[in-house]
Amino acid sequence: MESLNDSLTEAERVLHDNDRGDHTIPAAGLYPHQWLWDSCFIAIGLRHLNIDRAQQEILRMLGAQWSNGMVPHMILSDKHHNARDAKLWRSWTNPAAPDIATSGITQPPLLAEAIVRIGKKLSLPERRHWYKSTFPALLRYHEWLHRERDPHQEGLVLQVHPWETGLDNTPPWMRELHEHQMPLWIQAVEKLRLDAIIKPFRRDTKRIPAEQRLDTVEALALYSTQRRLRRKYYDIDKILSHSLFAIEDLSYNCILIRADELLCSIAKSIRQDIPTELQVQIENTRTALEKLWDPYSNQYYSRNFMTHKLIKEPSIATLLPLYAGSISKERASLLIKQLENERGYGPPYPVPSVPVDSPWFKELGYWQGPTWINTNWLIIDGLQRMGFKDHAAALKESTIEMVSNAGMYEYFDPLNGQPGGAENFSWTASLFIDLIKS
Ligand code: GLC
Repeated sequence: MESLNDSLTEAERVLHDNDRGDHTIPAAGLYPHQWLWDSCFIAIGLRHLNIDRAQQEILRMLGAQWSNGMVPHMILSDKHHNARDAKLWRSWTNPAAPDIATSGITQPPLLAEAIVRIGKKLSLPERRHWYKSTFPALLRYHEWLHRERDPHQEGLVLQVHPWETGLDNTPPWMRELHEHQMPLWIQAVEKLRLDAIIKPFRRDTKRIPAEQRLDTVEALALYSTQRRLRRKYYDIDKILSHSLFAIEDLSYNCILIRADELLCSIAKSIRQDIPTELQVQIENTRTALEKLWDPYSNQYYSRNFMTHKLIKEPSIATLLPLYAGSISKERASLLIKQLENERGYGPPYPVPSVPVDSPWFKELGYWQGPTWINTNWLIIDGLQRMGFKDHAAALKESTIEMVSNAGMYEYFDPLNGQPGGAENFSWTASLFIDLIKS
């Protein structure tokens, strides 16, 4: 095992190399833009090294906020794939989009978490100033989420693309895609096994072994879903009236519940009011999470927005109610049991993105098996806040050891700790630093 100091130096080098001045890319080559939740995780680590730079990471994301309140999931870089990717999104077709090229969807709302973590490193007057300067945009983002993404005001917010969850090919979404949204031509590609013809044209598998990425049919389905959204100019009314594909994702709603709590704490510390309407919505989301509980299997699931049917497919989201922090101790204990189960979420290098005994499980299959450091970080934080200190400490230790041994990779094999995906991956580096330094 490399010494922790060597690994810390390595992590700092990765963040330095991926620094593009006013933002950090997730990894060179594969991910050349700025991503929303990546930047939040990056800022959480960067605050230990360079607080100004951590603030800049967040301010740039907020600077790309749409006039309706949405913070996009990507700000497209003006170099590299810019022309191609900007055309792929055509964000400018929506009147709310800013001048710079962005995507047309959002990602998990980790902004409040990053803003508070940065705030903790600042002196009191600086913190007030930081909170005051970010609060208006943050508030508008949360208002947009609760208004636009909960159109019937039932409490849970919906997502229109798996990219919005950050867990791109996670089984609950892939199952729904297959059942409800697979265009005929993709079904034909699958049936006739034509994916082999398309494979050579993929950009990602030129850099990363194909078995560590999404399979070609999944990738096609994600791009075709994105194209449908683009054709509706990212207008939620048009999207919902034409498409039957929307999910109230468990992981997203859990992260929102914690983010709302942090938003309120920011407001309190700078003596700002949370509008009454939003207060009611925040409370409704906390209560609505319990609608996702399945008493038969003793766990939470995502739900189809249209049919209200639970999508009973376990994934890393299953454990994120611990991060939400709003659930009962009793339900939390049931989730902990799953974390302890070696054939579930407790293999030697936890926490796998899909339980080991799931038919979907593939050790290095992107969000269908590998252990990712950002979800480990969320679970560790949730365990700590919910009072499961020993579990939190054990997971923190195994995470640090795994990264220190294997390096700053995108994800890891939960059975043997071997690395997979992109090397020099920013959030692995930044969260490794944070786990050690906080
Ligand atoms: C992939 C991941 C997503 C991440 C992005 C950039 O799409 O699934 O979570 O934000 O890459 O790293």
